[in-house]
Amino acid sequence: MQVRYVAARPSSHTVPLLAVGVLQGTTEPSGVLAEVDGFLDGAATRLLASGDFTGRDADEALFYASGDAGPRRVLLLGMGKEAKVDAERIRRFAARAVRGAEARGVTELAVFLEGHGRVEAAALAQAAAEGAVLAGWSFRELKTRDAENGRPPVQVESVDLLGEGDAEVLATAAGAGAVIATGENVARTLQSRPGNVATPSHLAEEVEAMGREVGFQVTVFDEARMKEEGMHAILAVSAGSHEEARFIVMEHRGGVEGEAPLVLVGKGLTFDAGGISLKPPAGMEEMKFDMSGGAAVIGAMKAIVELGVKANVVGIVPSSENLPSGTAVKPGDVIGTLAGKTVEVINTDAEGRLILADALTWGSRLKPAAMVDCATLTGAVVVALGSHAAAVLGNDDGLIEELRGAGSRSGERCWPLPLWDEYGKQLESATADLLNVGGRPAGTITAACFLSEFVGDTVWAHLDIAGTAYGDGKLPYQRKGGYGFPTRLLVEWVRSRTS
Ligand code: BES
Ligand code: MN
Ligand code: ZN
Repeated sequence: MQVRYVAARPSSHTVPLLAVGVLQGTTEPSGVLAEVDGFLDGAATRLLASGDFTGRDADEALFYASGDAGPRRVLLLGMGKEAKVDAERIRRFAARAVRGAEARGVTELAVFLEGHGRVEAAALAQAAAEGAVLAGWSFRELKTRDAENGRPPVQVESVDLLGEGDAEVLATAAGAGAVIATGENVARTLQSRPGNVATPSHLAEEVEAMGREVGFQVTVFDEARMKEEGMHAILAVSAGSHEEARFIVMEHRGGVEGEAPLVLVGKGLTFDAGGISLKPPAGMEEMKFDMSGGAAVIGAMKAIVELGVKANVVGIVPSSENLPSGTAVKPGDVIGTLAGKTVEVINTDAEGRLILADALTWGSRLKPAAMVDCATLTGAVVVALGSHAAAVLGNDDGLIEELRGAGSRSGERCWPLPLWDEYGKQLESATADLLNVGGRPAGTITAACFLSEFVGDTVWAHLDIAGTAYGDGKLPYQRKGGYGFPTRLLVEWVRSRTS
C-alpha cells in the first residue's frame, strides 16, 4: 500500500473515495464538512438534520457525488467526543476508512486529517499512515483459494492523506508512520505463520534476508556455537526438540562509533507445548504466538533501520521450541546459564524466562545505555491487565516512565507492576541458585524477578505481552491473530531517545 501526504483541497482531489471524520454532536457542517456538503449538494446538512448520524464512534454514512471531478464517494465517519480525539482515534479512523473502501471494492482513497487542536500535525499524519497500513494487512499466504464468500479480497493500493499544515512535516511524518506500520506488519506475518513453518531456523533465515535487503548486520548462532558460548539455558529448553534453536542478533549502527547501544530483546519461542510440564490441549495452537516478542523486535529493527534512526540499536531474538520428549529437560533438573548461575527447573513450561536469561546476559555484555525485552511470558498478566495493556517492570523508574509514554503515544500501552526485592524470595531454591517459578502469587512479577537476575547493573525493563500480542482483532486496524504488538512502542521509544 502506498500512503502519501497530498497538499490538495478535498473538493478538487479526484479520488474514488474520501473519508472525513465528524465529531459527536455536530449539528451542521462547518470547515471541511461544509466544503464536502457543497459538492454533495447539501447531503451532509440533510444527514445531520435527520438525527440518524450524531458523530458517535460507530456512525458511518456514505454518499455519491455528482459532477465529474473531485471525490466520487464520501464516507463520513463518527469520531466521538472532541475531548477524546487523540492519535489513537486518528489511527482507528484511517483504518476504518481503509476497511470501508475494502468493503466496497475501492482500492484508492483519500483521508482528511483533522487534529481538532488536540493532536499535533506530525503525530496526526503518522498515526493516520499507521492506521491505514495496518488495516491493509492480512495473512493469506497459506490459503490456496483467492475467493472468500465468493468474492476475491480487495486490497487497498493507495491512501492519500489530505489536510492543512506544513506539507514537508506532514509528508515526513506520514512516511515514518508507513515505515513503522510496515515493520509491524512484518511482525504480524511472522506471528501468523504456524509452528511448522516459523521454526527457529526459519526466523533466522528471514532476518538474514531482511538484513541483506534493508542493510543491517545479522549474526546467527546455531546450537554448536551456543554450546561453545555457554548458553546452557536456551539449550536446555531446546533439548526436547528436533528443531535446532537459533540465537539471532541484529545490529543497526546509526549512532556514533563506540556509543552505547539500545538493546531490544524478544522472546522467540516458536511453539510452546510446555515441555514435560505439558500444557492442556485447549487453545494450545495459540502457542505458535509465543514468538511474538521476537517478531516485534524483528519488525522494529526493520523500521529503525529504514527510518535511519541516529542511534546504535541491537536486536536479540533467542529462538527455540519447547516440546516434550525423551531428551527434554525435566522438572527437578538443574541447568546452567550463560551468566553462570544455576537454575532448578520446577516447571518446564516456564521456559521463556530461561531463553531470555541467556539473551539478557548477552545483551548486558554489550554495555547498553538501556535494554528492553518483550515476551509473551505469563498467563498471569492476562489476569492482571487483560488485553488493553502490557505490563512493564524493571530496575529503573525513568526507563519505565519512558516506555509508558512511548506506549500511550503509539497506542500500544503498558502499565507498571512493582519489582520489589520481597518478591524475589519466591525464587529461592534449596538445590540451585534460583527456581524457575515462584508459585501462584504474583506470577508476572516473579517472572520479571527471575529476568532481573540476568541483567547485572544494566538499565533494563521488561514488557510482558502475553495479553496484548494477539487476539480476536477488535480494533479496526487489527485482524484475528497476531497484532505485531509492541513494534510501534519499541520504535517510538528508540526514536524518543534520539530527539
Ligand atoms: N508462553 C507462556 C505464557 C503465555 C500464556 C503466553 C498465555 C500467552 C498466553 C509461558 O511460557 C508459560 O507457559 N508461562 C507459564 C508460567 C508458569 C508455569 C509459572 C504460565 O503463565 O502459566
Ligand atoms: Mn511456557
Ligand atoms: Zn512460553
